[in-house]
This record gives sequence, structure tokens and C-alpha cells, in this order.
Amino acid sequence: MAKTILITGANGNLGTAVVKKFLEEDYKVIGVDHSGNHLGFANNHPQFELHAVNLADEAASDTFAKEAISLYKQIDGALLLAGGFAMGDIAATDGEALRKMFTLNFETAYYLVRPLFQHMMENGYGRIVLVGARPALQPEAGKNLIGYALSKSLLVQLANLLNEAAKGKNVVVSVIAPSTIDTPANRADMPKADFESWVKPAEIAEVLEFICSGKSDPLRKSVYHLYGNA
Ligand SMILES: NC(=O)c1ccc[n+]([C@@H]2O[C@H](COP(=O)([O-])OP(=O)(O)OC[C@H]3O[C@@H](n4cnc5c(N)ncnc54)[C@H](OP(=O)(O)O)[C@@H]3O)[C@@H](O)[C@H]2O)c1
Repeated sequence: MAKTILITGANGNLGTAVVKKFLEEDYKVIGVDHSGNHLGFANNHPQFELHAVNLADEAASDTFAKEAISLYKQIDGALLLAGGFAMGDIAATDGEALRKMFTLNFETAYYLVRPLFQHMMENGYGRIVLVGARPALQPEAGKNLIGYALSKSLLVQLANLLNEAAKGKNVVVSVIAPSTIDTPANRADMPKADFESWVKPAEIAEVLEFICSGKSDPLRKSVYHLYGNA
């Protein structure tokens, strides 16, 4: 039977490539986003559905996750891609800027991880993937991105804590840490950069599919550095 995979940020630059890959590989895909207009290719696909959920809203996220669990009985994977970026060194990062990054990168994942991790522990199987970033792992890359780096590093710590809680079960929480992803937005922001060195959304989608496929079952690795040639 096809595995059921929940994908947030489904309409985003990375999300659209990931939805495409998982539908090609015959998974059942539950997409989540604020709104969607880049997923036309998936509109009438029998294995795809798209839900508009504000993932910063704890109650809405929890209700949505529990409805999906009740409907499908088993959610095999959750690829929690929703998130975003902001510049700012310590001088530029006040409480409001910090909370904004915390909500966008941490809360949008945490409110789904909470019910989904418990569900996967009960089922004895599951893969959750969170999206970190290089500045969360390398201080030299994060020193001028304080809110972004802090909020992404909390996801790494969350994965570590949950993997401890899941020891002995086939439930794994991984973090992918891409460097700059080759997206139209990044090309427009950095027109002089070497685009070829950037990791491609389709390459990340391959790694995510590997994590959700049976092929990765013995792996208990929590952080994947997806830096391409950068
Ligand atoms: N782009 C890069 O170079 C890069 C590098 C490292 C890590 N990352 C991470 O990779 C992930 C995907 O990046 P991307 O470039 O594909 O970003 P993107 O195109 O901006 O996509 C992010 C998606 O998340 C959705 N989202 C944000 N807040 C939400 C909320 N409260 N509820 C529901 N959906 C929400 C957005 O929906 P709306 O647009 O409707 O708000 C958007 O579709 C992010 O976590 C990002 O931090 C990106």
C-alpha cells in the first residue's frame, strides 16, 4: 500500500518539487499551505489533496493533524518544510524580530510534530523531517542571521530530544540543512552568485524520498548537510 506523507510548505519553492517527486513515486500526499497556486500539476491527481492551515495556530494545526490521523489511520511521514528567512545581526534583532522567526520556523513545525510524533510512536513507524539551515550549524554563517539561526537550531535540538524518546522504535526525526537552495527568489536576490553551486529543490526531494522509503530504515542519522557544491 502507498505510504501516506504529509508535506507542509507544499506550495513553496522546495515544496512544489517535493510534492512532484512523491506523487511520481506513488505516495499518497497530504499537502498543507496557507494558499496554493503553484501546484496546478497536482490538482486532479487521485493521490493528492491540499489543505489550507495556518500552522502558526496551535489549535488549527492540532485539529488538522488529528483529523488526518483519524482519516488515514497511519501517517508514515511528515515533511515539515514551511518556514522562512530574515537577515539581522544582534543589533537588528529585537524581541519582535526574534518571535517572528521563532513562529515561522519553529512553531509551524512544533504544532504538527507534537500530535504526529505521538501517533508514529503508537504505530511503531514514522519519519519526520524538519528543515534546518547551515547558519544554525555554523556560527560563522549565522552571526548576521540571529533570529533565523536560533529558530532553525531549535529544530535540531527538537530532533535530538525526540530521537532519544524514540530509541528502540522505528520512528526517526531528521533535519535537513540545505545551504542556499536554487530558487527563483534567491536568483533574483543574488543575481551575481554562482547558481550552479546551489542545491536544487529536486535534489533535496530525492533525499527526502530516500528518508521516507524503506531503503533508509536502518538509518538513525538526525542531520543531513545538503550543501551541494557551496
Ligand atoms: N530557500 C533557501 O535558500 C533555503 C535555505 C535553507 C533552508 N530553507 C528552508 O527551506 C524551507 C522551504 O524554503 P522555500 O525557499 O521553499 O520557502 P518558500 O518558497 O517561502 O515556502 C515556504 C512555504 O511555507 C508556507 N508557510 C509559511 N508560514 C506558514 C504558516 N504559518 N502556515 C502555513 N504555511 C506557511 C508558505 O506559505 P505562504 O507563502 O502562503 O505564506 C510557503 O508556501 C523553509 O523552511 C526555509 O527556511 C530555505
